[in-house]
Amino acid sequence: MFVYLPPLFLLTMRTFVLLTLTILFSIACSSNKDQIEANDGTHSLSDPHSYANAQDVRTEHVHLDLDINFKNKIIYGVARHQISEHSVDSIIFDIKNLEIKKVTTGKDNEHETTFTIGKMDSLLGQPLLVKINPDTKYVNIYYQTTKDAEALDWLPPELTSGKKNPFLYTQGQAILTRSWIPLQDTPQNRITYSADIQIPKRLMAVMSASNPSERSEDGKYHFEMNQKIPSYLIALAVGDLQYTKLGNNCGVYSEPELAEACKSEFEDISEMMRTAEEMYGKYQWDQYDIVILPYSFPFGGMENPRLTFANPTILAGDKSLVSVIAHELAHSWSGNLVTNATWNDFWLNEGFTVYFENRIMEEVYNKEIADILAIIEYQDLETALVDIEESLHPEDSRLKLELNYRNPDEGMTDIAYVKGAFFLRTLEKAVGRERFDQFLSEYFEHYAFQTISTEEFIQYLNDELLDKDGIEFNVNEWIYQPGLPSNCVTISSDRLDNMIDLANQVNEGNDISTQKNRAAKLDDFITQEWQTFIRALRDDLPVEAMTKLDDQFGFSTKGNPAIQSDWFIKCAKTGTLSCRDEMEAYLIKIGRRWYIESIYRALADSGNPEAIEFAKSTFRKAKDGYHFVSRSTMQEFLD
Ligand code: BES
Ligand code: ZN
Repeated sequence: MFVYLPPLFLLTMRTFVLLTLTILFSIACSSNKDQIEANDGTHSLSDPHSYANAQDVRTEHVHLDLDINFKNKIIYGVARHQISEHSVDSIIFDIKNLEIKKVTTGKDNEHETTFTIGKMDSLLGQPLLVKINPDTKYVNIYYQTTKDAEALDWLPPELTSGKKNPFLYTQGQAILTRSWIPLQDTPQNRITYSADIQIPKRLMAVMSASNPSERSEDGKYHFEMNQKIPSYLIALAVGDLQYTKLGNNCGVYSEPELAEACKSEFEDISEMMRTAEEMYGKYQWDQYDIVILPYSFPFGGMENPRLTFANPTILAGDKSLVSVIAHELAHSWSGNLVTNATWNDFWLNEGFTVYFENRIMEEVYNKEIADILAIIEYQDLETALVDIEESLHPEDSRLKLELNYRNPDEGMTDIAYVKGAFFLRTLEKAVGRERFDQFLSEYFEHYAFQTISTEEFIQYLNDELLDKDGIEFNVNEWIYQPGLPSNCVTISSDRLDNMIDLANQVNEGNDISTQKNRAAKLDDFITQEWQTFIRALRDDLPVEAMTKLDDQFGFSTKGNPAIQSDWFIKCAKTGTLSCRDEMEAYLIKIGRRWYIESIYRALADSGNPEAIEFAKSTFRKAKDGYHFVSRSTMQEFLD
């Protein structure tokens, strides 16, 4: 008898043996004695974070029939997979903490088929192996989610803006979609999808697909995504939402309370889209909308196609954090149109996007602002380089990652984002902006609706740009070596240099409140200037000096969430716990990981027992309000 063996390198030996035994057992018990085809290992999947055998047989379209039950916090449903032509006897899906009820094949005439579930891996979940015939076209998986669905955030009304209705949203990237939909959860397989979703009547559902602008009478919604996307971009949000049109093909879904704030904050979106299209080619997704989620959303934004998911912290009131939208919009090209083949190639998604985001900001606003934003990012990169150098994985400062057997989330550092973007900026400088833009437009067109590995990119870069133009460039050093190459472009800003001077005055013990017209109140400078000021303060500044600054400028109370985050980090480092109430309120309200993780870490690393205890007790109070992504990150060093 031949047994299909999942790719060896994906599994621990123990898992492997158990899975094999399970499969053997199920075949022995099955009345159908058809042989399951052998896999000699040569068809091993090249995504270390998926069990799927997508090289042999793959989903082309999935239709979701789902019932969203807020009372039980469970999604009940069927995932109907339309699969490719194949010559294998089994298809493997990824699942994590799902309850599989039954699996059938066929469209109108369904027949139950045998399935086996491999052992649980705490990171990857389980392989779901379904027996098929060479002529099977449809595989229907009947399932329900469980309380351990890591993608899902079920919020009680208290954690929403309106405080009257519950909310649900999903977060799929990187490998969490498998916890709410059984599918081949690898970016290497692009699929179309459709969905019929039943929700409570008083709420509205939106997806990364064609969306309603009105609430339905009966709580039923139908969605279509007709462009091929990777599974991590399938997304759903359900809540008390209302649509505000912002332009011809763009708008925003938000709770009614936030609609006005969205209108002014996002008034430049049409302009951003126009600029982006001018630079890198047509916007391929027809509509561009944003949905504002509750504060627990673990990211500033997430680029779900046609519908960016965003954290309300970006509604700063003065457009100071709107570059997050430029970023998510840019992903409509880098990431969604041209997708990283594995999570080791994550910089292809994020580095390109940060570069592109900055170009949009330069066009829509001006070069001075774009440079200021890039310098803030560079400051983050410098911190990340030091942290990574001192960590268990100093090799993580390479653009090309090796995250096999590790959580792909660990690749979400400023290496992929900022080192990636500076690599592209340095290339731009070497070949000239016009030539580089031409190259990038061709790249997006050439790889549209495909996935790409770092190695394929290098080949394309050499063939289409560097060799063609006879340009020498240290591509391999940038991509495969740790640290930052010495030819990295530098960006400077007089406005930020002034803020460093101002901070140095404080560092030297001078009183800046007496300096007329330089810094009298919070409004005197923009967010990023204050961030630079705060970051440039000494980590051993006396508590009295810190308190005085807070009294004068109100960083902990009046600052926007980005300023507050940097301020609370500095408070933790200097041992300024007088604003602990504000800090606690912030950490309880906001779940955006990058904002809160660095505060918790600074407290935890402070060496001050009172600060450490404060971090732990605050986390205990806050954690039930966080999404799994943020909760699990903090748990690693606080629990
Ligand atoms: N795609 C990312 C968010 C993400 C990355 C989710 C990896 C899960 C795994 C998104 O586009 C992003 O980068 N968001 C940033 C925006 C910022 C860089 C402007 C964020 O949330 O901070
Ligand atoms: Zn991004």
